[in-house]
Amino acid sequence: MVPPRKDSLKWSTYPEDVLPLWVADMDFPVAEPIRQAIGERAQGFLGYPPREGDGELRALILERAGLEGEVAFMPGVVVGLYAAVAAFTAPGQGVLTQVPIYPPFLAAIREQRRTVLANPLRETEAGYRLDLQGLERLAYASRLLLFCHPQNPTGRVFGEEELAALAAIARRHDLIVVSDELHAPLTYERGHVPLARFLPERTLTLLGPGKAYNLAGLPMGAAVGPKPLVEALRRHLPHTFPNVLAMAAWKAALREGEAWLGETLARLRANRDRVAAWAKEVGLGHFPPEGTYLAWLKTPIPKAGAFFLKEARVALNPGENFGEGYDRYVRLNFATYPEVLEEALKRLEGALKKA
Ligand SMILES: Cc1ncc(COP(=O)(O)O)c(C=O)c1O
Repeated sequence: MVPPRKDSLKWSTYPEDVLPLWVADMDFPVAEPIRQAIGERAQGFLGYPPREGDGELRALILERAGLEGEVAFMPGVVVGLYAAVAAFTAPGQGVLTQVPIYPPFLAAIREQRRTVLANPLRETEAGYRLDLQGLERLAYASRLLLFCHPQNPTGRVFGEEELAALAAIARRHDLIVVSDELHAPLTYERGHVPLARFLPERTLTLLGPGKAYNLAGLPMGAAVGPKPLVEALRRHLPHTFPNVLAMAAWKAALREGEAWLGETLARLRANRDRVAAWAKEVGLGHFPPEGTYLAWLKTPIPKAGAFFLKEARVALNPGENFGEGYDRYVRLNFATYPEVLEEALKRLEGALKKA
């Protein structure tokens, strides 16, 4: 069953005849142990929690992510991106990021009157790769890199060699790297290695339960890193308290969500493979994602997102939102039921024939 329309941004934004394969929610229900934990926590004390949040949860987050350092909770990962731009740069300065990129990265930079220093991913025969030379050329002009790993929208899970090379560049150019690793549990063949393993002294890792456990409506995130960086970030975070239901949900996810996550990854992987086979059949440019439930598709059609909405009645994320020069691309969210996915692919294929 897809989510009730009235409760869901994904399902309520477009007219009813449109299939929504856009914003990054999964259509699947939340894991049972998480629902139970939220219910039980709701029976308890719902006043202010300690400012620093639940100690057990902090320990679990560090252990599961394989990270060390200070933990600051925040109401969502995007909040952390905005706070990082404010904490580590001044208006008018440049902020580095790899494009195409999840649009709030660009908004966090631009809305705070900084400049985007775009370092486009290289498209190689093997898939997307960091352009390390390009990064090195731009790095002198910035103090901050907003990194995304696994990468949204390409689904790239960066390899250890790339991460080590990126760390060397960050050291040479005195960069702070904010690494959004929200999708880290959602990887397929190859596991996720945190950037902080290569660059512990300069990395702030942003994490949360929102994507892997489908909890975006209970906004919650954490920044993990060396104390001075976490404290600098904290000064720019909103003065809110950690949400007690979100903390209970995250704790249950880390303690008891493994089976659900495994089943969900199997479903996602089948969909990923289906999208990849379909893209090949219909002649779209595509590298199957190594992580995330997002497929980045290159079409021959200008403004492809608007075209597919009109002609296929399928809502995808238009590529132009992810950086300049990507209007022929779309991002497709395949975290749905096979029937929904098949219908969407059929409609997209029909529209492509008209293009
Ligand atoms: C890479 C990335 N970062 C952040 C977010 C949003 O995080 P939050 O809802 O915790 O602000 C998303 C949502 O899709 C995402 O893909």
